Amino acid sequence: MAEQADTSIQMMDWQSEELKPAIIIIFGITGDLSRRKLLPALYELVKNDLLPPGTRVVGVTRGDTTLEQLMSQVEVCIHEKDNVCDPKYLKKLESIMSMRKMDLVGMDHYRQLGEYLDELEEQAGMCLNRLFYLSIPPGVLMTIVNRLGLHGLNKACKHGGATRLLFEKPFGYDLESGKELIEETAKYFKESQIFRIDHYVAKETVQNILTFRFRNPIFEDIWDAKHVDKIEITASEKIDIEGRSVFYEQTGAMRDLIQSHLLQLLASVTMEKPAEFTSSAIHASKLQLLDNVATIRADKLSECAVRGQYEGYREEVNKSDSFVETFAAIKLFIENPRWVGVPVIIKTGKALAKKTTNVAVHFRAVARDHNHLNTLKFHIQPNEGISIDLWVKRPGFERKLQQAKMEFSYQQTFDEHGHPDAYERVLVDAIKGDRTLFATGDEVLAAWRIIEPVIDVWSRDDQGLKTYAKGSTGPDISRLE
Ligand code: BG6
Repeated sequence: MAEQADTSIQMMDWQSEELKPAIIIIFGITGDLSRRKLLPALYELVKNDLLPPGTRVVGVTRGDTTLEQLMSQVEVCIHEKDNVCDPKYLKKLESIMSMRKMDLVGMDHYRQLGEYLDELEEQAGMCLNRLFYLSIPPGVLMTIVNRLGLHGLNKACKHGGATRLLFEKPFGYDLESGKELIEETAKYFKESQIFRIDHYVAKETVQNILTFRFRNPIFEDIWDAKHVDKIEITASEKIDIEGRSVFYEQTGAMRDLIQSHLLQLLASVTMEKPAEFTSSAIHASKLQLLDNVATIRADKLSECAVRGQYEGYREEVNKSDSFVETFAAIKLFIENPRWVGVPVIIKTGKALAKKTTNVAVHFRAVARDHNHLNTLKFHIQPNEGISIDLWVKRPGFERKLQQAKMEFSYQQTFDEHGHPDAYERVLVDAIKGDRTLFATGDEVLAAWRIIEPVIDVWSRDDQGLKTYAKGSTGPDISRLE
C-alpha cells in the first residue's frame, strides 16, 4: 500500500531531530490525571524509547508519597488499561524519576526546587529543556505560576534550553476569568512558552481530520454550504461524573467538553485551508473560524440550546437544588461565505447509553429526492475511522436501494501498529516545542465568547433543565434539528 510522508502539515519530525533532553516537572504527580494518563504515557514513551536520552521526571507533591509507592500506582493503572506492565521498563522509568515534597505556597520551596534543577543540569553537564507540567486544580494554578515567575524559574537556563509551562483546562470559568488567567500567566511566561493542553486535539483521529480534508482533493470542493446540509458533533459518555463533585459543580457539560474539546473539533472540521501548513498558520485559521461563529442571542436560547441533568446527580453532589447540566446541546451558525446557513449541532452528555465521539457531515439531498442523503463521519472514538454512507442498488431484478458504508478503520488498516495515546503526543510535542496541537490564548477566549450567552443564562435558574434517566440517550433535542 502506498505510504507517503505527510509534508503538508509541518510538524517537527521527532526521530530525525537532535533533541535536548528535558526535565519534566510534574506538579500534582499523585493526582488522578497523573495516575490515569501522565504516568502511563511516560511508561509508554520510555518503553518505546521516545524520550530524548538524559530526560528526567521530577514529581512534585504536597504529601509524603515515595517514588516506590508512586510506581506501584503506575503498575495499577497500566493494568487497568489492559496493558501488560513490563518490570524492565517500569525500572527504567523509575530510574529517571525523583520526587520533591513541596509546599506550593511557600516561597522557599521554589528556591530549593530551582537549586535542585540546577543540580540535575550540572550532573547532565548541560542546560536541559524545563517543562513545568501543572496537573493541579485551577484554584492553585496562579499561585504556582506566580511563584515560578518570582524565582526566575520562568527563564531558560543561561547556556541554552527552553522553559515551558503546560497546563490543563479549565482555562478560566468564563470569558472574564479566562482573560484574567491569560493576562496573569503572560506576566511571567511568553505565549510561545505556554502549552495549553486540549487532549482531544492530540487524539490521532482528530489530527487526521486536517489530513483527510486537505490531502484528499475530492472532498475540498464539496466542503461548503452548497453541498453540506448540517454538521453534528457528538461526544456522548457512558461514565457519570465519577465522584468529581466539586469539579463538576463548578463546571457542567458546557464548560467541561464544549468550550474546549468540541469547539476545537468544530474548528478542525470547518476552518479554511491554512495559508501554509505551519503551526502558526493552522492556529490563525482556527481562530478565524471561531471568531466567525455567530453570537447566540440570549432571547433565542430556547431555539438553540438544550440542557439536562441525569437522575441521581443532585444526591451524588449532595446539593438538592443544583442545576448544573450533565448534558448540553447547542446549535451554532458560522458567519462566513463557506458555511452560511449551515447549522452545526454540538452535543455532549454524561451517563448516556453509549460512549461515542464523532463528527457527522450530512451532505444535501438533491432537490427531488429528500430521503437520500450521504453522511461522512469521523469516528473519533471508539472504533476509530472514517465512514461514508452511500446508497447502493440491492442485487436482484427489482430496483431496490439500500444504504451501505464505505469505511476506513484504524484497526483494520493499522492493525499491527496501534497508535499513541493523546497524552504521549502531548508530552512529546511539548518536549519538541511544537505548539500545533495546543490551544492558543486567543482560541480559548474565542471559545468562551461563543458559549458565554448560554452559560450566563443557565447560571440564573433551572428553567428548561430536563432530567434524564442514566443509560438513556438524554433529553430530546429535536427542536434544534
Ligand atoms: C475531560 C473531561 O477533559 O475529558 C471529562 O474533564 C471527560 O469530564 C474527558 O470525561 C473525556 O475524555 P476522553 O478522552 O475519555 O473522551
